[in-house]
Amino acid sequence: MTNAYEAAYEESIRDPEGFWGKAAEDCHWYKRWDKVLDDSNKPFYRWFAGGELNTCYNALDLHVENGRADQVALIYDSPVTDTIKTYTYRELRDETAKFAGVLAAQGVGKGDRVLIYMPMIAEAAIAMLACARIGAIHSVVFGGFAAKELATRINDAKPKAIVSASCGIEVKKVIQYKPLLDAAIDMAEHKPEFCVILQRPMEKAEMIAGRDIDWTEAMVSAKPADCVPVAATDPLYILYTSGTTGQPKGVVRDNGGHLVALKWTMKAIYDIDAGDVFWAASDVGWVVGHSYIVYAPLFKGATTILFEGKPVGTPDAGVFWRVISQHKVKSQFTAPTAFRAIKREDPKAELMKKYDLSNFKILFLAGERSDPDTIQWSENNLKVPVIDHWWQTETGWAIAANCMGLHQFPVKYGSPTKAVPGWDLQVVDANNQQVAPGEIGALVVKLPLPPGTLPTLYKNDDRFVEAYLEEFPGYYKTADAGYIDDEGYAYIMARTDDIINVAGHRLSTGAMEEVLADHPDVAECAVLGVEDKLKGQIPIGFLVLNAGVDRPAEEIQKEVVQMVRERIGPVAAFKTATVVNRLPKTRSGKILRGTIQKIADNKEYKVPATIDDPTILGEMETALKGIGYGTARQ
Ligand code: COA
Ligand code: AMP
Repeated sequence: MTNAYEAAYEESIRDPEGFWGKAAEDCHWYKRWDKVLDDSNKPFYRWFAGGELNTCYNALDLHVENGRADQVALIYDSPVTDTIKTYTYRELRDETAKFAGVLAAQGVGKGDRVLIYMPMIAEAAIAMLACARIGAIHSVVFGGFAAKELATRINDAKPKAIVSASCGIEVKKVIQYKPLLDAAIDMAEHKPEFCVILQRPMEKAEMIAGRDIDWTEAMVSAKPADCVPVAATDPLYILYTSGTTGQPKGVVRDNGGHLVALKWTMKAIYDIDAGDVFWAASDVGWVVGHSYIVYAPLFKGATTILFEGKPVGTPDAGVFWRVISQHKVKSQFTAPTAFRAIKREDPKAELMKKYDLSNFKILFLAGERSDPDTIQWSENNLKVPVIDHWWQTETGWAIAANCMGLHQFPVKYGSPTKAVPGWDLQVVDANNQQVAPGEIGALVVKLPLPPGTLPTLYKNDDRFVEAYLEEFPGYYKTADAGYIDDEGYAYIMARTDDIINVAGHRLSTGAMEEVLADHPDVAECAVLGVEDKLKGQIPIGFLVLNAGVDRPAEEIQKEVVQMVRERIGPVAAFKTATVVNRLPKTRSGKILRGTIQKIADNKEYKVPATIDDPTILGEMETALKGIGYGTARQ
């Protein structure tokens, strides 16, 4: 007998149009689609071509009209400001419509880009939904990025407006956002027509006359704006993510496929029904925040939590349990690093005992590999299933998961379980041939990708094809390596490019190398991600100095650390750089980053056959010991 997962999976691969067409019936359309899947312009597949809808209508108005007006839609829980504020669906719709009116009154309309640079406050979600309401395309930039990263995104998205706030709060530190924003606009070639700034009580930002509009004042007189029908294939948002260069990739998400897929996942993957409380403890600046703080729970008619705090320190390692208990959270979704942080502070989970967690049913983890220790600690203490699932900014939702609303499979530690319906996940070798179960290769997805994934990169079809579709013709390249066992469980082993995951945040070591290489004393450099007990990985840098530089190495090391902080941002967590005489390379001049990484992580390594001079590896071991890595590590 096949179970519900197997039946759904089989149908989604055999008849994707039938499968997703049925899922789309659960959504509101102004105009029904002409074709579920338009494959007339391969490899650019389009879902629900000809259909018209509004994402914000599906997230808010539909529920107001269908009896959920007084149900809580969003809970803003902010231990850093000691605030809890709830919004019913009606209240959230009304606030969103008013803010949409603020934007529309300034001339923002369909297809215009609006950049959102905000901390974790309800207004961030309101700004996103307001854009969707009037057909504008939002691009949210994570608060931990520096002004230069923001400027790069402004130049690429060319926003008509920027929405920001006076500050964010990092544990106890007030981080001024406005000076970063002003610096970014100064740096950028493109200038927005106007900015809307929310003044928070703890920090008053300097406003620029003629450009900056005060959020609160504008809302007083705002005329609510109605939902505007958009094409299913029109972009809803652009979300920039690390690529292999300093130029981030602008992942595009369309309106129709996104709505259909995300609404479907709430039950199928997360087992969430309308009225349930769901908490994604992430940030609106990341894809998890887009998909599972803002859009999917609201599409479903659930209650979502927007949490402005950290797993530890706000005020303590019991805050997750307080939030789960107080708001009767049914499922939480976070990154393993958050649980590692809690486990480190409260290894026996003493703080958990203070709270009634009887409504809590499932913990979902993603963003980086879930180490078995963290999963077992969470299982033993929470006594609920702990479900690892694997996805990417590009995919917008999980490629592999234990689909808890369809069928619960036994957990195998180290595996996010099986391909989710819609995903024809395969493992191939360098010649694009499928490998046997258990054999490691490139994890790829047979085209077409399901709805809700990236149709392209913003204004860059060529880079989209080159980055994702060229290497394995007929497939989407995930850039993760791994294997699938004989029971269909996927194992995600490592990225095949220079992306690292630092505390669940995706960063490019290539982008950091670009910054280091810019230092006048640096001739050559390498940055790689090494294992870290808390953050999973952290970057470390190696510098070869120009001949004749006689300044102390420590000075230069400090300077490059500061440069990464200023140009990429504190989120890079780049704190260690060391000067070496030379870097290990192949005879053709390629730096052997993988080998350095293995030495740093205390893993066995083979001296690569192609190495130019094996004696350098001894030098690397010494350099790594000097900064506490390699054989010096406990
Ligand atoms: N605005 C401004 N600065 C920010 C920021 C933001 N939104 N988010 C992070 N930063 C800064 C931090 O203040 C810190 O700066 P510092 O070097 O001055 O201390 C730096 O960026 C690194 O931050 P972070 O990665 O959060 O590390 P941390 O040591 O402060 O906290 C954890 C560690 C594990 C508690 C934290 O990373 C965490 O809660 N992770 C949860 C994972 C998550 O949300 N992942 C998203 C994908 S699901
Ligand atoms: P991001 O785009 O920030 O979501 O990062 C995506 C990358 O994070 C993936 O390509 C993986 O390398 C990694 N990742 C995300 N979830 C998992 C997981 N559950 N297990 C292993 N790696 C993961």
